[in-house]
Amino acid sequence: MVKKKQALGWIEWLIGWMYVTYELLFQRTKTSHLQNPLELPSLNDLTCIVTGTTSGIGKEIARQLAEAGAHVVMAVRNRKTANELIDQWCSSWAGILLNVEVMELDLLSLDSVVGFANTWNARLEPLHVLINNAGIFSIGETQKFSKDGFEEHLQVNHLAPALLSVLLLPSLTKGSTSRIINVNSVMHYVGFVDTEDMNTVSGKRKYSSLLGYTNSKLAQVMFSSVLHKRLPVESGVNVMCVSPGIVHTNVARDLPRIVQAAYHLIPYFLFSPQEGSRSALFAATDPQIPEYCESLKTDEWPVCAFISQGCHPTNPSKEAQSVETSFEVWEKTLEMIGLPSDAVERLIEGKEVRCRYGTRKD
Ligand SMILES: NC(=O)c1ccc[n+]([C@@H]2O[C@H](COP(=O)([O-])OP(=O)(O)OC[C@H]3O[C@@H](n4cnc5c(N)ncnc54)[C@H](OP(=O)(O)O)[C@@H]3O)[C@@H](O)[C@H]2O)c1
Repeated sequence: MVKKKQALGWIEWLIGWMYVTYELLFQRTKTSHLQNPLELPSLNDLTCIVTGTTSGIGKEIARQLAEAGAHVVMAVRNRKTANELIDQWCSSWAGILLNVEVMELDLLSLDSVVGFANTWNARLEPLHVLINNAGIFSIGETQKFSKDGFEEHLQVNHLAPALLSVLLLPSLTKGSTSRIINVNSVMHYVGFVDTEDMNTVSGKRKYSSLLGYTNSKLAQVMFSSVLHKRLPVESGVNVMCVSPGIVHTNVARDLPRIVQAAYHLIPYFLFSPQEGSRSALFAATDPQIPEYCESLKTDEWPVCAFISQGCHPTNPSKEAQSVETSFEVWEKTLEMIGLPSDAVERLIEGKEVRCRYGTRKD
């Protein structure tokens, strides 16, 4: 019997860190061809849900989409901050009303995800773009679990966006050709998913926030690849992951002081949130993206589209290209988020799907 892989080999690990270092050192030169901000076409006919828009990359994505005319739904856990941002954006546009609304979504609660999706789907409106941007990297913190019992990085960065993407399929098919965009990270290159211990509770591997973050980002690429393949071309829904680059945002707020100081010393290398928003905005609006994604559905190529910080299609890590592990991640994820194995097919056919979450009365 072939022994199951238990971790990245040290050469793979070294190569992974080389990718991360290369991204940090050369992201600015590699993106010198891009405008900042990215020029967007008029988006008056587009409805976009963006998660985590109260700071960093998500705030920039939401603002720029709205300023280009899109109807933007800010899916956030802090409604007050989101409403204040809308006021700021509108006043900087000399009182012109932007088409932005705020809806509550806490990714640390799968009940909240189901509630959000049900509320949105009940409108029976088309959804053209879902951007799963919200994420956490609680650097240096001890292992924490959500009230659903999942390691917090796994839940916020992978499980909750996966549940949201699947449950919003009825609206995304109404909006086809539509796009699910996951703001991923080059850090997935140093991730490894142990499908028998996705929650990192067995004690086989010592937990660290780096392990939690990188594994959650790799799991997201793997799940997205299977989701993309399972959505028939006729559904008109495409799934992709993007790397924003290495960006100076609130993600650094939990860093030790000394690392925060180092962050300030290397401003040349780090992207601003506006620069970091370009790959997601490109994925959301470039007219050639649907055709490219559809070509990947019919290809033998095992992964969904992965768009680099320079707005080019690129390859995710070798580990992300493992078909066997990706299917295991798919199955385990559906189990964890309380969906049946045929959830996607049923939703595409317009049938109902029962989720274990979302039934609790608080
Ligand atoms: N910065 C980088 O260098 C970098 C590199 C690669 C990938 N990324 C990815 O880019 C994405 C955006 O990160 P960022 O750098 O812009 O970080 P950020 O400034 O910390 O923004 C994160 C956003 O996610 C929201 N969020 C966190 N937990 C949430 C929850 N439980 N429910 C709902 N929303 C939640 C935050 O809301 P609150 O304001 O309520 O906390 C905030 O709006 C993340 O997925 C991150 O992994 C970032």
